[in-house]
Amino acid sequence: MAAVSLAGRRVLLIVSGGIAAYKALELVRLLRRDGCAVTSVLTAGGARFVTALSLQALTEAPVHSEIFSLTEESEMGHIQLSRAADLVVVAPASADILAKMAAGLADDLASTLLLATDKPVLVAPAMNVRMWQHAATRANMALLAARGVAVAGPEDGAMACNEYGPGRLAEPPAILAAIAALLAPAPRPLAGRHVLVTSGPTLEPIDPVRYLANRSSGRQGHAIAAALAALGARVTLVSGPVAIADPPGVELRRVETAAAMLAACETALPADAAVCAAAVADWRVAATAGHKLKKVPGGAPPALALVPNPDILATLAAPGPRRPRLVIGFAAETEDVVAHAADKRRRKGCDWIVANDVSEAGGAMGGRENEVHLLTDAGIEHWPRAAKEEVARRLAARIAAALT
Ligand code: C5P
Repeated sequence: MAAVSLAGRRVLLIVSGGIAAYKALELVRLLRRDGCAVTSVLTAGGARFVTALSLQALTEAPVHSEIFSLTEESEMGHIQLSRAADLVVVAPASADILAKMAAGLADDLASTLLLATDKPVLVAPAMNVRMWQHAATRANMALLAARGVAVAGPEDGAMACNEYGPGRLAEPPAILAAIAALLAPAPRPLAGRHVLVTSGPTLEPIDPVRYLANRSSGRQGHAIAAALAALGARVTLVSGPVAIADPPGVELRRVETAAAMLAACETALPADAAVCAAAVADWRVAATAGHKLKKVPGGAPPALALVPNPDILATLAAPGPRRPRLVIGFAAETEDVVAHAADKRRRKGCDWIVANDVSEAGGAMGGRENEVHLLTDAGIEHWPRAAKEEVARRLAARIAAALT
């Protein structure tokens, strides 16, 4: 029995040509045993090795093979066929069908469905070892992997053509395990929780055209929002102006100034946790000019009087009935990173601080990677340099553990 129940799940199985096609029948048997519905498509090559009748008997469903079939179109449009499944599996996947997928060809039913699908795709390649090792197949596989196509196998072994090496179709139980992993519902430990995240810089206007700002890209805060949403949290992301894409699955509130960011955060409460990753300007101009400040020939430049901005993190972390259970701040430091961060944790009253060194140009501030220390009641952890998305996933997992 597969570790994950496949009951109620639907696989569209494309059987392409090759001596290993007979193993597709065993795969169908295993999928059906685990409660998975299977619709199959047999390519012209596949039909030389297994019969539509065998597939039909095992899947207990009609087998599709014609692209221009009046009966099939009237029963279920081809595009629909590729979308009615939870997962499209190509097993065996011949060098030919992999090349078609890489090139985006759609000259038969199988390749058309693969081009039209909006579902995840798993391929289980099977071919002669030299075909597998050919630069063309290598390039096609790299392209498919980059597009997110999952791969099971191939395995090393003796081949029907008396050669030895990689190219043998993965065994059906291994393909079944890969299918189960792809169909497994993602864990949602933060389902039902609300997390507030701040991200990006704030802009503090000087006059209608000028402002004070900083180099924050919003990448780390946005990645944290996305990682929390991926764990099932309802996420309110309050972001200053950034040039990066909106993270999927979050409620985005765009703001400019620190004052607007604080107001948006307070409106978003209550929250189970707050992650303040925004680089909030410490000061704003005391009196924003209502008109563009003029350069007076020979005159002195205007003196900008600054006043402190509200501290959003400290405000959210202040004791009170609306305080989120877990409040996390960031500390961007250029020296004595950990000591300053520990001091900040105390001063701001937050539970955790994620500290990073921003002294390096192109480093944490604006860069794509981050190396951080996590300061909690339990002590200090060093997290090695990693993509901001990875740091975000790690932090989201820790938040989930703390809230559950
Ligand atoms: O005091 P400092 O700016 O170094 O503290 C950084 C942390 O405090 C970050 O989590 C940042 O989002 C937060 N912060 C804030 N409001 C401010 C200043 C900083 O929320 N006005």
